[in-house]
Amino acid sequence: MHLTKEQEATLAGEHGEVLQRSMMLLSRLGDIYGADKMLPVNSVQVAGVSYKSIGDPGLDFLEDYAKKGAKVKALTFLNPAGMDMEDWKKLGFSKDFAVKQKRIMDAFAAMGVVTSATCTPYLAGNLPRFREHIAWSESSAVSFANSVIGARSNREGGPSALAAALCGVTPNYGLHLDDNRKPNYLVKVEAPMLGMSDYGALGYHVGKIVKNKVPYFVGLPESDTDMLKALGAAMAASGAVGIYHVKDQTPEAHQHKIDGLEVINFGKKELDDAYAKLNTGAKVDIAILGCPHASLREIIALAAKLKGKKVKKALWICTARSTKDTARAMGLVAEIEKAGGRVVADTCMVVSPIEDMGYKTTGVNSGKAGNYLPGFCKQSVVYRSIDDLVKEVTE
Ligand code: F3S
Repeated sequence: MHLTKEQEATLAGEHGEVLQRSMMLLSRLGDIYGADKMLPVNSVQVAGVSYKSIGDPGLDFLEDYAKKGAKVKALTFLNPAGMDMEDWKKLGFSKDFAVKQKRIMDAFAAMGVVTSATCTPYLAGNLPRFREHIAWSESSAVSFANSVIGARSNREGGPSALAAALCGVTPNYGLHLDDNRKPNYLVKVEAPMLGMSDYGALGYHVGKIVKNKVPYFVGLPESDTDMLKALGAAMAASGAVGIYHVKDQTPEAHQHKIDGLEVINFGKKELDDAYAKLNTGAKVDIAILGCPHASLREIIALAAKLKGKKVKKALWICTARSTKDTARAMGLVAEIEKAGGRVVADTCMVVSPIEDMGYKTTGVNSGKAGNYLPGFCKQSVVYRSIDDLVKEVTE
């Protein structure tokens, strides 16, 4: 791979140990995947933030980098942490966990990272443009950036995203290249698509079939960004899909030929099958919405659905800190709390330790959460529409 003189100097250690290690990681990745050069990036999102996922080894690594003076060169956001950084006590997180999680956030902050911990950086102030090269980690955000925005990112691991943030570059391979963004499958949607959980079920089904390849959807009704983020998140979780196209709705769809692609049909039967597979539980202990993190529109909708109701079990909606702040200013947080629900920032149902908080069965409307909760959090899942979930947990 061609490196500039400056990049060679970094690799030789002329700018210190942290940058040397970071450039080494990026150039090795580039060599493995056949990159010809590094691309400058000014938008990064780093995963591996929750203490639950990275533990003490991850914490030590980050504190070591911070102590050595590492500083990011790009606008860098974080994936969700293990708890709401403000309301952790009220929500029942343990003090030991909170202390470690706070140290992780402090280490990132010392490196100049924006400690906005969200899987929807594009809703929280880190919005790339069409064709911009970026280095993001969170699979659902990578899918949204590539597919809905038309930016270009591989799914970075936590260390490679942090290395990209520190060096300001990422190797040119994978989804940075036109050829790898072409569709391989044509998905004909014939099922009625009525809400977010239907998009999650569609994504769950298609991801399992296409596995890492690129689907092109026809027959989807006009879909808003919340529906598309639900679709992409579910496909990323069930099949590592990093990009998809939707006829007349995503920005690169018109560039591609779809004749001769292998066809996947998604009718009512496939929709029902996907719901059946995602449902592994019966009685909800807690319903958690906001996977990927809820937009303001979703919080407005939930507040309206809770009017005049009382939550008899637990109900969370997860979101970015900045979205929660806006929702609070609009009185929505107070409305949801009055009904007994919680607006939870900085974390989500998968990276927070809900299994240690006494919950065994979680109700979700997200194909990604439905896919991950049994493995990551030992949860049984009740997979339903938001209306059905609100009915389950309120009186
Ligand atoms: Fe985001 Fe957590 Fe879902 S990171 S996409 S809310 S599993």
